[in-house]
Amino acid sequence: MVQLNLLPQAGTTKHALPAQLAIVVPAFNEIDNVPLLIAAVTAALPNVAWEIMFVDDNSPDGTAARVRELAMENPRVRVVQRYGRRGLASACIEGVMATAAPYVAIMDADLQHDERLLGQMFDRLRGGDIDLVVGSRYVEGGSFGDWTRGRTAASKLATRMAATLTRTPISDPMSGFFMMTRAAFERSLPRLSSVGFKILLDIAASAPAPLRVAEVPYTFRTRQHGESKLDSLVLWEYFQLILDKAFGRVIPVRFMSFAMVGGLGLLVHFFVLSILFIGVGTSFSAAQTVATIVAISNNFFLNNLLTYRDQRLRGPALLRGWVSFYLVCATGAVANIGIADWLFDHQTFWVFSAIAGVLVSVVWNYAMSSIFTWRK
Ligand code: GDD
Ligand code: MN
Repeated sequence: MVQLNLLPQAGTTKHALPAQLAIVVPAFNEIDNVPLLIAAVTAALPNVAWEIMFVDDNSPDGTAARVRELAMENPRVRVVQRYGRRGLASACIEGVMATAAPYVAIMDADLQHDERLLGQMFDRLRGGDIDLVVGSRYVEGGSFGDWTRGRTAASKLATRMAATLTRTPISDPMSGFFMMTRAAFERSLPRLSSVGFKILLDIAASAPAPLRVAEVPYTFRTRQHGESKLDSLVLWEYFQLILDKAFGRVIPVRFMSFAMVGGLGLLVHFFVLSILFIGVGTSFSAAQTVATIVAISNNFFLNNLLTYRDQRLRGPALLRGWVSFYLVCATGAVANIGIADWLFDHQTFWVFSAIAGVLVSVVWNYAMSSIFTWRK
């Protein structure tokens, strides 16, 4: 009988040991940094069975294809490529979920984190009495490198806010460089918010009991290739994470964001209405029509930017989304008026009738736009 030989034979094929440590690296447009990081980690961990897991969000520069090329030469290199999604925190989580290694590190692709600490962090964790080792810029010996004074101050303020959220004493909860046991990660998993870019803060604030933490100092290096992905909206993402940690078990953070945008839309509506009707002297119905169109557009673009940042519509999908959002809001307005009228006719105080109408239409618009406008 012919034997099918599918397994590599001992001695004939180079066979990597199962990884004890997985280094999960979120990467967006980091094509030039990928080979440098692999070389740096290889030099830093000569005696550890590690693997490196790049989590790419379909970067336009071809990061994923580059990682695949390198993976064909090196079995320690792996890739997860996501499509139609963005997000640093969720990328890290999905990378951890995709490996079997009992210890996981999170590290940036751009060489700003000091890979020479990985060995020391791994030894601390394997000692067994610790859940998490954090690379910290705050403990003795760590620093921000060449950050501006403004960015350092903002980071310190956010750090103080974070301390009130987590019962775990971490001097640098905003750090994106840490290593932990899979067991501890899995205890936080059910409550992770996965929004924004502060994955360590999310993990610490989601832990059912305070984590046992050690910290190692490091200096944040300057980026040499590519550019930072964190724009002015990171503050908003941070705010969303705080909101979700505070109220997320009662109200979904997406809904809170949607309702806030809706509130702003109401102000926009009255602003445009009063300019046209009182200022310019347009007829009420014309002014009301223009105000409605402007307010709905305002809500659509703000929700696309803020509420659905992780699945933002662009190009032709933007136009389709805009039209569908109009249709959703039009039906929502009909529901609003119908409910308010019905309540008012049934002896409800006019203010409560109006509020009920608005609430019903917000929930309607939220639910329907999540199905038709920002569908997955
Ligand atoms: N997959 C994926 N998707 N990766 C992303 C995304 C995304 O949407 N956005 C950013 N990344 C990757 C980058 O490619 C990089 O490897 C890493 O996440 C950090 O992003 P940078 O754009 O380099 O951010 P930074 O240098 O300003 O911020 C770093 O420092 C902060 C410390 O204050 C990050 O490490 C933060 O996590 C850290 O908190
Ligand atoms: Mn960076």
